[in-house]
Amino acid sequence: MKTHRLLSPFVMASTLVLAFAGVPHAAAEDTTDAAKPAESAKPAEAPKADEPPKPVAAPKHFDVKNNFRNICGFCHADYGRKPGKGPQLMNSERTDEFMFNRIKKGMPSRMAAFGSVYSDDDIHEIVKFIRNLKDGEEPQNP
Ligand code: HEC
Repeated sequence: MKTHRLLSPFVMASTLVLAFAGVPHAAAEDTTDAAKPAESAKPAEAPKADEPPKPVAAPKHFDVKNNFRNICGFCHADYGRKPGKGPQLMNSERTDEFMFNRIKKGMPSRMAAFGSVYSDDDIHEIVKFIRNLKDGEEPQNP
């Protein structure tokens, strides 16, 4: 009986110590949760532990064909395989460098400069696309 009486306050004290020790930890956890509202906002799509997290946006390859159709196709008919408002580009005798510069810098009052729309790498891809154009074959991305 005597032992029990001595032990009880000790147990209570330990419990208090543990409770206090837990307070800053719990508070820190609350702060972390509050700082991540986006994560708690999408509970249904929680990533599975055995799957690597998906990138926000897949690295995208520049879609030359689609760009050509939408932007250049207005003047360079049939992906540049036929003359339109602009000249036919397929089988052009121009050098790659000439084409690159025409696309990048344009031609006053005839064709816009696309240097602010496309990077140099993009323009090189466009030139490759033009070089690969063939009659009767569906144009392909380079
Ligand atoms: C508003 C009409 C128009 C649009 C849009 C246009 N072009 Fe042109 N493009 C022309 C004209 C006109 C020429 C001929 C310019 C000249 O007199 O040298 C030309 C010339 C070119 C040439 C040089 C061909 C040659 O033999 O001289 C290339 C390459 C070219 N365009 C590519 C493109 C690409 C790629 C796009 C889209 C990113 C594009 N063009 C958009 C009208 C256009």
